[in-house]
Amino acid sequence: MSTLAVEELDDRVVVTLRRPRARNAINAAMIAELHDVCASLEERPRLLLITGDGGTFAAGADIGELRERGREQALQGINSRLFDRVAKLPMPTVAAVDGYALGGGAELAYACDVRLATPTAVFGNPEPGLGILAAAGACWRLRELVGASIAKQVLLAGTRLDADAALRFGLVAEVVPAGELLKRAHTLLDRMARSGSLALRLTKLVADGGGHPLTDDLAQAILFESEEKRVRMDAFLAGGRS
Ligand code: COA
Repeated sequence: MSTLAVEELDDRVVVTLRRPRARNAINAAMIAELHDVCASLEERPRLLLITGDGGTFAAGADIGELRERGREQALQGINSRLFDRVAKLPMPTVAAVDGYALGGGAELAYACDVRLATPTAVFGNPEPGLGILAAAGACWRLRELVGASIAKQVLLAGTRLDADAALRFGLVAEVVPAGELLKRAHTLLDRMARSGSLALRLTKLVADGGGHPLTDDLAQAILFESEEKRVRMDAFLAGGRS
């Protein structure tokens, strides 16, 4: 991996975006490497933590590469397909954001299930300033996360959400000092990891699908028949706690 540091643990994978000289801008190599990470997580589902190196999450798609792209590349949805893949990973994902998460960097964070931030975190979608739109999820995912009014301020007025604003609007779950960011993210992942893994997977699947009484019942039917449910409930009733 030339643009990522990847740490594989038993129950989670930690990915650090690492192109320090370009503020971790997302280029084709990083896209390919993130696809490799997704493939591995689809094959063997684990939690995912994504963070950025050097005090920046990611300053967007690589503008040098974007400049050369035309209609065909736009229609390929180079970034949006990756971020959709990230959003659909089987197990929960957490973005730990320190510093700038702009453009595609913000969209990658929006695609994760939970975001944590440091006081210097800044989310924004300055794409119109470059003559393009934020086409990798911001136009709809950000609206789902913070509502139309705030999303339109970000998308149309170039408003940047600092850590306080991101917390206030519910975009991030928590703001923690930079030195504690990864520890807090791991604590959150530890909590997730203590849940039943199939229960987590199905909850994510059902919740991301918008929920429906039928899918809720079908997913629950699978879980009610699982050995893990029996073991966990037996442990609870016996006085243990899972
Ligand atoms: N694509 C390619 N290169 C980028 C980049 C991007 N999205 N963002 C930053 N870089 C490069 C800069 O060109 C610069 O390269 P250089 O040292 O060879 O000149 C290097 O990263 C450092 O950037 P710089 O602007 O000097 O850092 P800064 O700390 O002053 O500012 C940002 C940081 C993130 C505010 C600023 O780099 C920025 O606005 N980046 C573009 C954000 C953007 O529009 N993203 C949307 C893209 S769709």
